[in-house]
Amino acid sequence: MSKHIPEEHLEIREMSIDDLAAVFHLGEELFTSEYSSSMYRTWDEYEITTLFNSDSELCIVAELDGVIVGFALGTTVEKQNSSWKYGYLVWIGIRSGLQKLGVGHKLFNEIKQRMVEQGVRMIIIDTDADNEAGIGFFKKQGFDNIQKHVYMTLNLSRARQKRKKG
Ligand SMILES: CC(C)(COP(=O)(O)OP(=O)(O)OC[C@H]1O[C@@H](n2cnc3c(N)ncnc32)[C@H](O)[C@@H]1OP(=O)(O)O)[C@@H](O)C(=O)NCCC(=O)NCCS
Repeated sequence: MSKHIPEEHLEIREMSIDDLAAVFHLGEELFTSEYSSSMYRTWDEYEITTLFNSDSELCIVAELDGVIVGFALGTTVEKQNSSWKYGYLVWIGIRSGLQKLGVGHKLFNEIKQRMVEQGVRMIIIDTDADNEAGIGFFKKQGFDNIQKHVYMTLNLSRARQKRKKG
C-alpha cells in the first residue's frame, strides 16, 4: 500500500494573498527550464497573480504543518459554439521529497469538486510529452484521450542573418 501524509497534518484550502510568495517560490523550484525546455509554458509571477485575480476559488494550496507544500491553479474556459464549460488545470505541483504521498491527489480532488460546482463538464490539462510522472499522475486521476500537440519555433535572429547574407 502506498504511503500517505496523516490527514491531521495536511490542510487543503483556498490560496490567500499571504500564500502568493510561497507558491511562487515553490513553483520556481518545480518548473525550471529543465522541467520544460520550451517557452510554451513558463512559470512566472503573472501565472499566479493572473489566476488569483480571475479564479481565486480555483487556486488551492496544500499546507503541511503550516508550510505550503503544494498547489493547484486552474481556470474555466467557455468555447464559442459549445454549451460545455471546460475546466483547465493550469499548474499542479508538490514539493519534491513530498511527492507520491497522496498530496497531488487531494489537491486534484478539491479543484475538481470546485470545478464541478462551477458547472464544468470536462477538465483539460497539458504537459510536456516527456513528463512521465505528470502523465502517470493524470492517468491515475482518470484523464485519457491523450492528444499530441506540435510545438514549433521560428528563430527570427537566424532568419535576419540569412537575409543579411543574401
Ligand atoms: C505530478 C505531481 C503533481 C503528482 O503529485 P503527487 O502528490 O506526487 O501525486 P500522488 O501521490 O497524489 O499520486 C497519485 C497517483 O499518481 C500516480 N503518480 C504519482 N507520481 C507518479 C510518478 N512519478 N510516476 C508515475 N505515476 C505517478 C500514481 O499512480 C499515484 O497513485 P499511487 O500512489 O496509488 O501509486 C508531482 O509529481 C509534481 O509536482 N510533479 C512536478 C510538477 C508537474 O509535473 N506538474 C504537472 C504538470 S503542471
